[in-house]
Amino acid sequence: MRTVFGVFGDPIAHSRSPHMHNAAFRELGMECTYHAFRVSRGNLKDALLGGKAMGFGGVNLTVPLKQEALKIVDADPLAKSIGAVNTIDFKDGMKGYNTDGFGAKRTLEEKSVEIKGSNLLIVGAGGASRAIAFQLAKDGANITIANRTEQKAIDLASDISFIATSARGCGLENIKELIMESDILINCTTMGMHPNTEGTIATSEEMHPELTVLDIVYNPLETRLLKEAKKAGAKAITGEMMLIYQGAEAFRIWTGVEPPVSTMKKAVLEEL
Ligand code: ATR
Repeated sequence: MRTVFGVFGDPIAHSRSPHMHNAAFRELGMECTYHAFRVSRGNLKDALLGGKAMGFGGVNLTVPLKQEALKIVDADPLAKSIGAVNTIDFKDGMKGYNTDGFGAKRTLEEKSVEIKGSNLLIVGAGGASRAIAFQLAKDGANITIANRTEQKAIDLASDISFIATSARGCGLENIKELIMESDILINCTTMGMHPNTEGTIATSEEMHPELTVLDIVYNPLETRLLKEAKKAGAKAITGEMMLIYQGAEAFRIWTGVEPPVSTMKKAVLEEL
């Protein structure tokens, strides 16, 4: 019998995770299968207990369930401090993890971008930003968080300050100066996402050639921000690898097997 894995969320119809994980299982000849399940807020506990009772191997969680899961599963310290769970392993009870920030870390590492000691500017202070800020603070980046709603940036900087003592939060008014002082810029806002593809948090005049720009938006892949980065001679990194690496890390947690990242990437790109 095949071991079932899945992703729970609402909406869930457009999730690329089934395609990505099923390609990985096929590639490795594993008797496993991965499906998308529409689970609404309030039904998560029942869905998890049902999955566990039916012998599921594990699940990913997406909007709007990641925060609710903290009250249900045994979350590891990183997921607890982020305040959200995106991966649950059923091997031994219900263990919760958050691999979203790890996706950003691996994406930067793959492009030979040094994280430790770098000046990192994260724009946005929502869920994705939290996961990335905690992970990259742990990895030794000097972090500035800038957000349209300044107080959210200040609060997030304060939350990570026990790991990153120099973390600071601010508004978007002085984005040019902030970018000037930065080695890495990560867009964690929805600016530039389909259908508002002309949106950008910064233009080429505000960037410099030593900068690395990672956009977590991957629809479209080549966002306005990344076009502006290229114009400025900066290194531009597309967001799909983050999705792939957070999935690859979940795959590793569940199976203990090295994930076939290039197969997973091909599967995701076919869907984009
Ligand atoms: P996610 O979970 O993907 O991080 P989110 O929690 O909805 O999504 O966060 C979206 C982020 O994009 C927020 O930081 C939001 O800024 P506010 O906190 O001020 O709302 C940011 N954002 C969305 N639209 C924006 C815009 N037009 N300009 C600047 N920031 C924007």
